[in-house]
Amino acid sequence: MEAEANSGSLEDSWAFIQSLGEGCRTVPLAGHVGFDSLPDQLVNKSVTQGFCFNILCVGETGLGKSTLMDTLFNTKFEGEPATHTQPGVQLRSNTYDLQESNVGLKLTIVSTVGFGDQINKEDSYKPIVEFIDAQFEAYLQEELKIRRVLHAYHDSRIHVCLYFIAPTGHSLKSLDLVTMKKLDSKVNIIPIIAKSDAISKSELTKFKIKITSELVSNGVQIYQFPTDDESVAEINGTMNAHLPFAVIGSTEELKIGNKMMKARQYPWGTVQACFHYPLPCHAVENEAHCDFVKLREMLIRVNMEDLREQTHSRHYELYRRCKLEEMGFKDTDPDSKPFSLQETYEAKRNEFLGELQKKEEEMRQMFVQRVKEKEAELKEAEKELHEKFDRLKKLHQDEKKKLEDKKKSLDDEVNAFKQRKTAAELLQSQGSQAGGSQTLKRDKEKKNNPWLCTE
Ligand code: GTP
Ligand code: MG
Repeated sequence: MEAEANSGSLEDSWAFIQSLGEGCRTVPLAGHVGFDSLPDQLVNKSVTQGFCFNILCVGETGLGKSTLMDTLFNTKFEGEPATHTQPGVQLRSNTYDLQESNVGLKLTIVSTVGFGDQINKEDSYKPIVEFIDAQFEAYLQEELKIRRVLHAYHDSRIHVCLYFIAPTGHSLKSLDLVTMKKLDSKVNIIPIIAKSDAISKSELTKFKIKITSELVSNGVQIYQFPTDDESVAEINGTMNAHLPFAVIGSTEELKIGNKMMKARQYPWGTVQACFHYPLPCHAVENEAHCDFVKLREMLIRVNMEDLREQTHSRHYELYRRCKLEEMGFKDTDPDSKPFSLQETYEAKRNEFLGELQKKEEEMRQMFVQRVKEKEAELKEAEKELHEKFDRLKKLHQDEKKKLEDKKKSLDDEVNAFKQRKTAAELLQSQGSQAGGSQTLKRDKEKKNNPWLCTE
């Protein structure tokens, strides 16, 4: 059988493994072996490694997100209140190391800043979705590394989203519905009615019913406390019916009876006073006043591990599957046969090479086309140049001819002038010759007759 498994295909190997499982028999132990300590080993290992838990608080500015976190963990976390003038929604993340008994918890609180403060709230959910995806992506990248160190990796994936609903007493705002709808496949959402001291008990009951029906009618999936584990099935089942939790946050400690309690005290007298307390106040930890205790029980004491597990097995798994499919990975081929990573890689590589060749061919064609276009352009330009040259040449010839004609006429004029000049000179010289012979004759006569007057 073993040889068969070694020589066969992957399918055969799988059948072999299954057959091994089917043939598994229960055998009694003669004495104590010790593997019953496995759960303890697991606990010890986990405690040594420590735990991490990441909470995302989504809610409008000033709805009491920071106060509730301080109240939940009984401490004062840092954080400045946000202004209402943010141009867009941002996320602020802080990580703290907490220690309770010998258990260490790396707690990350991510809070929205400027949520609900813009006039156009259409894209308010986007930064939140992008943030959640970025944490999944970082985990996936770590998982895909050749040398992965997941045990030392700081897992920043969001385990729970506390969605703060304003205590309007009316209904959910469209911003709430849209945001929760966009987030419900990515994170465990626990809706809570914030500042529930601002609303009366009867209004609160109606408001809770209204919210639940609106979430159902809009197909928003909120986190349900698990009821498959017998030890918590009853309490979780009951608590599911109490959602959304109506909470009050306060870091102020007041003496109620003999005990110091976190409470909110009011200056007016319409709110029912707490036991033995003279001024009207709401004790955060009094279940008759709000669901704070229920939230703390469900979130931290009972279901923290389930929230972590759901994040990994449901939300991250969905992200991972979509991402790997997007990258071309698949488990089975079209004939439903297992598809190995190697085959996927080869197929993807061939597809990539094919695309590369196609791109190369396209670029070559484009280059040839461009060269042709350029050649045609150059030819056209050459033709234009020739035509221009011919035009200029003809113009030049015409000009030259005109100049030659002008020169010829000027030469003729010069010749005529010269002829006239010669004739004039001739005439002049003839004239002066005649005048000279008369003077000679007079000189001769004077010589012969000095008394002759010539004047
Ligand atoms: P940003 O971070 O600025 O968006 O505000 P936030 O949502 O963190 O609110 P924060 O906790 O700073 O509280 C804002 C104001 O509301 C403070 O004055 C709190 O004291 C008050 N507050 C917080 N929780 C409650 C509550 O449950 N009831 C009432 N009435 N006031 C509360
Ligand atoms: Mg805050």
